[in-house]
Amino acid sequence: MTEPSSSPPEQDDYGMSLPALVVLRISIVFIELFTRLFDILVLLRRPRLLPPYLGLWLREVRVSPYRLKRSFETTRVLQASGQIFKELMYGEMPVHTGVWLFWKAGLGRGSRLVDLGAGRGRTLLAARWLGAEAQGVELMQHHVDLARKSVEKAGAQLLVGDATRADLQDATHVFTNWTALTPQTRARLVERFRTCRPGTRILTVTRPVEAPGFTVLSKHRLLFTWGLEHVWIQEVRDNVVGDTTK
Ligand SMILES: C[S@@+](CC[C@H](N)C(=O)[O-])C[C@H]1O[C@@H](n2cnc3c(N)ncnc32)[C@H](O)[C@@H]1O
Repeated sequence: MTEPSSSPPEQDDYGMSLPALVVLRISIVFIELFTRLFDILVLLRRPRLLPPYLGLWLREVRVSPYRLKRSFETTRVLQASGQIFKELMYGEMPVHTGVWLFWKAGLGRGSRLVDLGAGRGRTLLAARWLGAEAQGVELMQHHVDLARKSVEKAGAQLLVGDATRADLQDATHVFTNWTALTPQTRARLVERFRTCRPGTRILTVTRPVEAPGFTVLSKHRLLFTWGLEHVWIQEVRDNVVGDTTK
C-alpha cells in the first residue's frame, strides 16, 4: 500500500532501499493500468455501475487518496479514534478482485456487505455488481466527501465513522482491508466482529482474525492495487458471539 505523504521519519520504518522503492512504484503503475482495464471489462456486464466507477476514478485522478496531508483535522480524528497516522495508509481492492472474492464468500442478492475502512468506496461497487446491499464506514471525512455522490449513484452508502464502533447487526458479510492497522486497532475490530450475528462472513486482508470464535473457511491470494495479498474468508461461530473468553 502507499503511505500518506509527509509521514515523519520515525514512521517510515519499512526499511526499503531506493532501488526497491523504484521497482515498487513502477510495478504499481502497471498494476493500476491492468486493474483499471479489468475493472472496466467486468463493469461492462453491469453498465449502470460504469458512470459511478468512472466518477470515483476521475476524482482519484484529481485528488489522490494516496497523498493524505497531515492536517489539524487528521490529527483530531486520529486522537479521537486512538490511532496513528500510518493507519491511514491507502490502497484499494479492484472491482474485479472484489467481485470474485465476494462471490466466493457467498455474497449476492439479499446479502448486506459492510466495508470497514472503505476509503473512496471502490469495494462497494463490487458488492453492488453482485446485487447485494453495500455500506462503507470510513474514518476520513475527506474521502467520503469526494466519493459519496458516486457511491450513492451505484446504490450503496458511504458513511463517516470509526469502524471500531460500526453497527454490524444487519451485516451478512464484513470486509476489512486492515493491512495498515496496528494490532491494537485490529483487536478493537475483532471485538466488533463479535457483535455480528452467527454465520456472518468476515473477510480480512493480509492477516486472518487471530482470535477464538471464528472459523476459517478459505484463504486466497488476490490482486490489490499494491500487489498480491492474502485474503481470509471466516465465519462467526454461533456459540461464541459476545464471549471473548473461548
Ligand atoms: C487500505 S484503505 C482500504 C480502502 C477500501 N476498503 C478498499 O479495500 O478498497 C483503508 C482505509 O481505512 C481507513 N481507516 C483507518 N482506520 C479507520 C477506522 N478506525 N475507521 C474507519 N476507517 C478507517 C483509512 O482512512 C483508509 O481509507
